[in-house]
Amino acid sequence: MRYKNYENVVILDHPLIKHKITRLRDKETGTSEFRNLVEEIAMLEAYDAFWNLPLIDVEVETPIETCKSPAIDGKKLVIVPVLRAGLGMVNGIHNLVPNAKVGHIGLCRDPETHEPHEYFVKLPESIDQRLVVILDPMLATGGSAVAAIDCVKARGGTNIKFMCIIAAPEGLERLAKAHPDVEIYVGNLDRCLNDDDYICPGLGDAGDRIFGTK
Ligand code: PRP
Ligand code: URA
Repeated sequence: MRYKNYENVVILDHPLIKHKITRLRDKETGTSEFRNLVEEIAMLEAYDAFWNLPLIDVEVETPIETCKSPAIDGKKLVIVPVLRAGLGMVNGIHNLVPNAKVGHIGLCRDPETHEPHEYFVKLPESIDQRLVVILDPMLATGGSAVAAIDCVKARGGTNIKFMCIIAAPEGLERLAKAHPDVEIYVGNLDRCLNDDDYICPGLGDAGDRIFGTK
């Protein structure tokens, strides 16, 4: 499903994703189930987001004959979780593309201004030649997503996608406008932000729920 007339936004509209997001929202869902759900949703979203993953022909011997058949060139793919919560999506992608490389961007929202503060960046070499998929379950004001993409672009990245599980309209609009060249995949579009810039109805603090820190 498209969002308004933004060509670069895809809102996943699938019963499996909807069901799993409902389980994520439930405040009674514990850390272990929450982590599994985030992983599974990332995997389901990747089915759509990875539509143009680079393929190379490999030779394979079937029981009948030898042929050339396409295989994923995983080394060309870099997944970049935004710390901390994005880490929860990494295994879901690695289940599908085990040899995808992993970069990390550490961002933390300032508790007063809600602006992102960058505290760590480590990306693989030759980022300009790779497909970079940035992972963060929550797109609230959009500040962190915009900053994460700025960070990858500043290091030469040009082929970038962004995957989140829940987005607020405010953040989605800001991100889609700031980076019209980046494909954005959203598990569900929620209603709005509250006064603390948390997503409503949302699921609370994704990092805390994944890592059990509250
Ligand atoms: C959360 C979330 C995003 C950001 C979204 O991270 O994982 O990175 O907030 O908010 P925004 O769209 O308003 O920028 P947080 O800064 O809480 O860090 P954490 O994952 O370490 O808890
Ligand atoms: N970060 C979260 O983890 N949840 C929100 O609702 C907003 C930002």
